[in-house]
Amino acid sequence: MPNITIAIDGYSSTGKSTVAKQLADWLHYLYIDTGAMYRAITLFAMEKGFISEDHFNKTALIDSLADISLEFKKNNKGANEIFLNGRNVSKEIRTMAVSEFVSPIATVSEVRKKLVEQQQKMAEGGTVVMDGRDIGTVVLPNADLKIFMTASAEERAKRRYKELLARGDEVTYEEVLENVNERDHIDTTREDSPLKKASDAIAIDNSEMNLEDQFHTILQLAQDRIAGRV
Ligand code: DC
Repeated sequence: MPNITIAIDGYSSTGKSTVAKQLADWLHYLYIDTGAMYRAITLFAMEKGFISEDHFNKTALIDSLADISLEFKKNNKGANEIFLNGRNVSKEIRTMAVSEFVSPIATVSEVRKKLVEQQQKMAEGGTVVMDGRDIGTVVLPNADLKIFMTASAEERAKRRYKELLARGDEVTYEEVLENVNERDHIDTTREDSPLKKASDAIAIDNSEMNLEDQFHTILQLAQDRIAGRV
């Protein structure tokens, strides 16, 4: 069986990470959540006071990039956790505050360059499922299977809202929808590596799909690629 690389891109809250994780577990592949890496750098910038509601000191962030080390480690339940300079920040990076600032941070070319290099190293040798925004277009342009996930903004906001409520965050649906729309706008219009479907990616709109249907659809595509059928 050949080892393949699988790139899953798409809009925020389309459930990319869920399906990417399921697929990696099923295939015994390495799973890499690149959004978590952008979120961890955002948390770093927030803690250093480089970004807040009314200012963003891009130069200070760029000057500090060499001091940031990111690492994924599996916990005892087999789930991937992300460490920022040795500290487990897996929970902190999922707050609304980080979601608000992550898109501007992800527009910075120096940040992207650092992370893309690390992501490409992690994917050497194949057997990897990587999810993000620029995986099929920039990070792994030669990926064996590329999926591009979409769903309506309302459906995605509904899913995100439920997740945040379940964690005990105090947010309204309207705030979450606004954040989804804002992130879509920044992610698709930024100059460096905007979110777009690679020409050879397979688009899947999961607005009306349940998790199981989605998983089986994508698993079938992966198995076909692994078997060299398509
Ligand atoms: O997948 P996510 O919502 O955790 O990603 C958080 C943000 O990071 C998203 O708004 C855009 C950015 N991102 C990116 O620019 N490139 C990636 N490969 C992954 C995420």
